[in-house]
Amino acid sequence: MIRIRGMHKSYSTGKVVTDVLRGVDLDIDDGEFISIIGPSGSGKSTLLHAVGGLDSDYKGSIEVDGSDLAKLSDAQLSAYRNETVGFVFQSFYLLPHLTCLENIALPAMFKRGGELDEAAANARAKDVLEQVDLLEKADALPTMLSGGQRQRIAIARALFNKPKIILCDEPTGNLDSKTGAAILDLFRTLNEKDGITVLVVTHDPGIAASTARKILVADGALTEVEDADKALRHDDADDADDADNDDNNDAPSEEART
Ligand SMILES: Nc1ncnc2c1ncn2[C@@H]1O[C@H](COP(=O)(O)OP(=O)(O)OP(=O)(O)O)[C@@H](O)[C@H]1O
Ligand SMILES: [Mg+2]
Repeated sequence: MIRIRGMHKSYSTGKVVTDVLRGVDLDIDDGEFISIIGPSGSGKSTLLHAVGGLDSDYKGSIEVDGSDLAKLSDAQLSAYRNETVGFVFQSFYLLPHLTCLENIALPAMFKRGGELDEAAANARAKDVLEQVDLLEKADALPTMLSGGQRQRIAIARALFNKPKIILCDEPTGNLDSKTGAAILDLFRTLNEKDGITVLVVTHDPGIAASTARKILVADGALTEVEDADKALRHDDADDADDADNDDNNDAPSEEART
C-alpha cells in the first residue's frame, strides 16, 4: 500500500517559492484504481513523480509497502522505479528507429545492467506485447502504428518488470475519445486481472467518473470527491468568483446510493 503523510512540495525559481502541495495525506490500498484530477498547475504530475520515485526533494513521507521512499539509497530507489512502478505518459516516448519489440526489450536490458540476456528480454517483451494484444506488431517501427497502438506499446514497456503500481500521467491526452476509452479498458483489465494498482492523472471527466476513487488536487490540498465533473466546475467557479449559492441541489452521497 501507498501511505503519504504530511507531504509538502515547493519549487524555488530564483527568489520565488511556489508551495505546490502543502502537507498532504493519502492512503492507497493495493489493487485500487484511482483518478487524480485538478486544474492545470495544481500539482498532479508533481504528486505522481514523487510517488514514482522520480523526485525525492519534498518534506513529509511517502511509504510504499512500509518503506519510506525518501530514506532509500540511490540504488534502492532506482530498483523501486524499475521494478515496483511502471510509468505511462501522454507522449509515448518510443524510439523511432527501434522496433516495438526492441523499444520494450532494450531499455530493460540496459536498466538491469545486462543481467537479463537478449533471449530472455525478447521472450518477456513478447509476453507483454501479447498482454496488450499487439504481438503482431513486434517487428514494426512505432511510426507505422496508430496513436492508440503506440500507447499500448508504451504500456507493454511499463509492464515489462511486472510492476505492482502503474502511474499514468494523461495517458489518453493525445488520443481521440474512442481510442482513449480502449486504453482505459486495458488499464482496467490489468487492474482487475493482475491486481495492479493504477493511478491515472486525467483531465477527462469521463475517465474520472469511471474510477471508484477520485482525488482532486487543488490549492495545495488533496480532496476525495464523489463527482469529478462537479468538483472541477466548482474549482473553476472558485477561481473566477466566489460562487457560494450553487449548493442547493447537492445530493448527499448516502441518498445517491439508495
Ligand atoms: N521543475 C519545476 N520548477 C519550477 N516549478 C515547477 C516545476 N515543475 C512544476 N512546477 C510548478 O509546480 C506547479 C505544479 O506543476 P505540475 O506539473 O505538478 O501541475 P499539473 O497539475 O500536473 O498541471 P497540468 O495539468 O498542466 O499537467 C506549477 O505551478 C508548475 O509551474
Ligand atoms: Mg501534469
